[in-house]
Amino acid sequence: DAPVLVHSGQGSVWSCASCHGEAGEGAGITPRLAGISEAYLLKQLEDFASGARLNESMQYVARGLQPADMKELASYYAKLPVPAIAVPSSDADLARGQALFQKGDWKQNVPACISCHGSQGEGVGAAFPPLAAQQADYLFSQLSAWKGGHRHNSPQTLMDDIASRLSYEDLYAVSYYAASL
Ligand code: HEM
Ligand code: HEM
Repeated sequence: DAPVLVHSGQGSVWSCASCHGEAGEGAGITPRLAGISEAYLLKQLEDFASGARLNESMQYVARGLQPADMKELASYYAKLPVPAIAVPSSDADLARGQALFQKGDWKQNVPACISCHGSQGEGVGAAFPPLAAQQADYLFSQLSAWKGGHRHNSPQTLMDDIASRLSYEDLYAVSYYAASL
């Protein structure tokens, strides 16, 4: 059964489903939550609450959550099945995206995404979230946030470094490729 906050809001905590969808599938720049590891989801909620990760909507929501709510919500979304997500049509260079995803770009010191996010982009363990079947525009928004210096909560600045070495065109290409997996 869904925790009460998923479908009904309470005070400053708007219902999660109102933005993340009934099945936790996300939309556009709002991420899919369904099927992502509990530890990763919990870390993100804590980071929004502490201000380590910036986003007006999510900081407002997360600051209204008790630690027990965060754990319950993260555990709930982690157990939901991964919903099928249609990738919007785009002019992204998917061949370039695939090359970056599988091999990286060693001339620019960029490691392959699969070395941390899994051979199919399915995510690995607690720390490395999935890229496959995530919202394409959300992936691009996060890579852009790291490149632009607006997201700082990645351990050891791993993602800050990777995103800073790639062009926005490359970030777009790899986002649309990964989302399609
Ligand atoms: C991001 C959980 C409510 C909009 C996230 C993330 C989590 C989360 C864990 C990060 C996911 C990731 O890094 O892959 C929740 C929970 C909610 C809730 C448990 C209910 C208690 C909402 C609401 C809105 C919203 C009501 C819209 C008003 C967003 C957006 C992002 C996000 C736009 C991306 C933030 C960014 O660009 O950094 N949410 N959320 N969420 N959520 Fe929520
Ligand atoms: C998170 C993309 C390579 C480690 C993320 C996220 C994206 C992303 C979009 C955010 C997901 C979300 O918010 O749900 C990529 C791409 C890569 C790449 C496109 C290849 C060009 C790597 C590599 C590592 C890595 C090689 C490890 C050395 C991480 C970690 C996080 C993350 C630890 C979680 C950050 C946090 O806790 O907030 N990546 N990634 N990534 N990535 Fe990557």
